[in-house]
Amino acid sequence: MSATPVNVTVTGAAGQIGYALLFRIASGHLLGPDTPVKLRLLEIPQGVKAAEGTAMELEDCAFPLLAGIDIFDDPTAGFEGANVALLVGARPRAKGMERGDLLEANGGIFGPQGQAINAGAAEDIKVLVVGNPANTNALIAQRNAPDVPADRFTAMTRLDHNRALSQLAGKTGAAVSEIKDLTIWGNHSATQYPDIFHATIGGKPASDLVDQAWLESDFIPTVAKRGAAIIEARGASSAASAANAAIDHVYDWVNGTSADSWTSAAIVSDGSYGVPEGLISSFPVRAKGGEWEIVQGLEVSDFSRGRIDASVAELVEERDAVQGLGLI
Ligand code: NAD
Ligand code: LMR
Repeated sequence: MSATPVNVTVTGAAGQIGYALLFRIASGHLLGPDTPVKLRLLEIPQGVKAAEGTAMELEDCAFPLLAGIDIFDDPTAGFEGANVALLVGARPRAKGMERGDLLEANGGIFGPQGQAINAGAAEDIKVLVVGNPANTNALIAQRNAPDVPADRFTAMTRLDHNRALSQLAGKTGAAVSEIKDLTIWGNHSATQYPDIFHATIGGKPASDLVDQAWLESDFIPTVAKRGAAIIEARGASSAASAANAAIDHVYDWVNGTSADSWTSAAIVSDGSYGVPEGLISSFPVRAKGGEWEIVQGLEVSDFSRGRIDASVAELVEERDAVQGLGLI
């Protein structure tokens, strides 16, 4: 076990994702079974009491890896010394809303948090934004943290990736573990493009095993609109699956992706695949040595190109909107 605990700041700690996330972090699923963690829970003042209750429960689990819990309602204090920051705290959408409808309400949260990360986080800080609209919130935080390398700011599309794996496994009767190299491109929104054209199932091209009609009228909309379907069914947005995806994203970032497949994450674009430099957009990615890299050289068909461009155009609109609001 490494001697020095890793400081993990979680915002929105008293919310429903927070409740599904914190116990898994404390039990070693975020960073691995040999890494002790210190939790730094950041809430708004009204959320502090509930966070204290969750902290009591965490203590009651007597997790061997949990080296401490502190609770804050001030971002500067909450991000002090953070090595990993999970930016979850934000208002979730309700039935009938698109995630973009949250831009103004949630955009205001991520500027000050970016500034606080800039001021006091550890040198090796890694940030995952979960709160919606996640890509653009991550952009706001990143632009407000000019001294932190831009590539430390990422947004979560791993839930979409996992949803796509599961849908494809269900359709083909394959095990999820047999599916390799799926990609989510673009925005964590209804315009996202789940791409199976490089995926294989048990070594065979996935596109040979399903037909184009299913792909277009079933798979893509099901994955892209799954968040809304869950809100409709549960009366609240996804929580345990979102927490699980956040764990997957950070675990892979820190420990590296498996050698035999890539995954998806929204990271700062370097201009690859025609995505404007600086946007935080989902790509096929691998992680090595604590850094994400975009999988290069994939052929992009006209069908895929159109879908990627549509989602990226939405990200450009969101960026321009937050620029107009003075948030970046
Ligand atoms: P929730 O309402 O249950 O919890 C949100 C928590 O954040 C609350 O406790 C609230 O007090 C806190 N909070 C609000 N503003 C804050 C701030 N400035 N600093 C710290 N804490 C703050 O919501 P939830 O279901 O946990 O969802 C959280 C966010 O995650 C929402 O924006 C939701 O849309 C998003 N989400 C994203 C994905 C994804 O795949 N990217 C998946 C599911 C949910
Ligand atoms: C999801 O994809 O489940 C989340 O982004 C919540 C939402 O608003 O859809």
